[in-house]
Amino acid sequence: MSNIIIVKKKINDYRKKIIVSGDKSISIRWVLFASLAKGVSMAKNILKSEDVLATIDAVRKLGIKVILKKNFCKIYGNGLEGYVYKKNITINAQNSGTLSRLLPGFLVNCTHPIKIIGDKSLSRRDFKRILVPLNKFGANIKLKNNKNLPLIINGTSNLNPIKFYEKKGSAQCKSAVIFAGLRTEGTTIVKAKKSRNHTELMCKHLKLPITIKKNKTHDEIKIQKAKKINLIDYNIPSDISSAAFFIVLTALMKNSKITIKNVNINQSRTGVITILKQMGVKIIFQNKKIYKGEKTADIKVESPKRLKHINCPISLNSGAIDEFLIIFLVAAKANGTSYFKNLSELNQKESPRLKWGSKILNMMGIRTITTIDSIKIFGNPHLKINKKIIIKNYLKDHRVFMTSIIAALSLGGEWHIHDKNSINSSFPNFLKIINSLKK
Ligand code: S3P
Repeated sequence: MSNIIIVKKKINDYRKKIIVSGDKSISIRWVLFASLAKGVSMAKNILKSEDVLATIDAVRKLGIKVILKKNFCKIYGNGLEGYVYKKNITINAQNSGTLSRLLPGFLVNCTHPIKIIGDKSLSRRDFKRILVPLNKFGANIKLKNNKNLPLIINGTSNLNPIKFYEKKGSAQCKSAVIFAGLRTEGTTIVKAKKSRNHTELMCKHLKLPITIKKNKTHDEIKIQKAKKINLIDYNIPSDISSAAFFIVLTALMKNSKITIKNVNINQSRTGVITILKQMGVKIIFQNKKIYKGEKTADIKVESPKRLKHINCPISLNSGAIDEFLIIFLVAAKANGTSYFKNLSELNQKESPRLKWGSKILNMMGIRTITTIDSIKIFGNPHLKINKKIIIKNYLKDHRVFMTSIIAALSLGGEWHIHDKNSINSSFPNFLKIINSLKK
């Protein structure tokens, strides 16, 4: 089957209710925690994407039984020391930064070396950010060129608690240190720049020995060695990063409405909502609930009359870190010049997304000025595309593919968008939901 999607026609206005798939960050964390609980944990609505399937494969390689069916996933944990470390284990994390950076935190006491590899995109990303703190605990991690995959971790039973300052705002790095802290006698202290806090909320829900003191820009997290991990049954809410594509599509349409059901609206993830509201998009939360410490709601969006530019406050960056590509599309159609800054982390994602953002916008005829960590977007509210645009991202970034589809459907032109299969890493039914809007 062809791996290219050609879009030649804009989508008509719609009024729909949709459900997007389960949250990726929570799905991966659930698999990892459940794999170290004692007994059978069950999840419903787990995301069945390649990143999560790679996580399931990883814990299976460590001796954990997992049953994955259409409607549920069951994990048969053998307790905190239940991983079986055979010789020559290689874990293929494929495209998943979350799996490859979180799991080593739990492997700091492994008794045989474990190798972690990944695809082309993951193999160019920075792993020094976890090597430094985990080696301080006493583990021995080696990387290619001291930075990249393959990663080889040699554990130790002689772990020391550490004090660590996480300055990048990386939830993956923070979580790896929390996991290692849960394996280590004594108090580990992490001062962490704000980032998504699903790990901390799951620890709290599981009554693990962790305390969190919140400051404006940083959290101070103290972790003690865990005695056990309780079973964890979880009904995983929908992913706001997947919902964001449909929120933006509706924002770029003239007369559409959409409701996205039961989405995780954890405040550390809702930067996209705050930014789009400031740009004039009508968004409301309905049916707000709290589930295992995580906030959820139905998100209702209406097409706005006009879109306003934004000088995006840097305090919103971390809560919108996976959504900037799609937010840039809104800035392209807004009145005036939008400015997004302090975004060097965007170039550390599946592909250098700041560069890709400006590349897509330039192909659409929008002027941008980009530095290594910022972008100015000169919006055009009358933007109409009449030409052929070819999108081929050599790192096969799923969010580049999905952003291009949203641009093509809302702004016109003839788009040839390569690497359809990339959506399998985070949102396999993305195109199915797009097609449901056409009916
Ligand atoms: C994630 C953290 C973020 C995010 C990624 C998922 C997580 O990455 O971009 O898609 O689940 O912890 P960083 O930790 O690099 O900020």
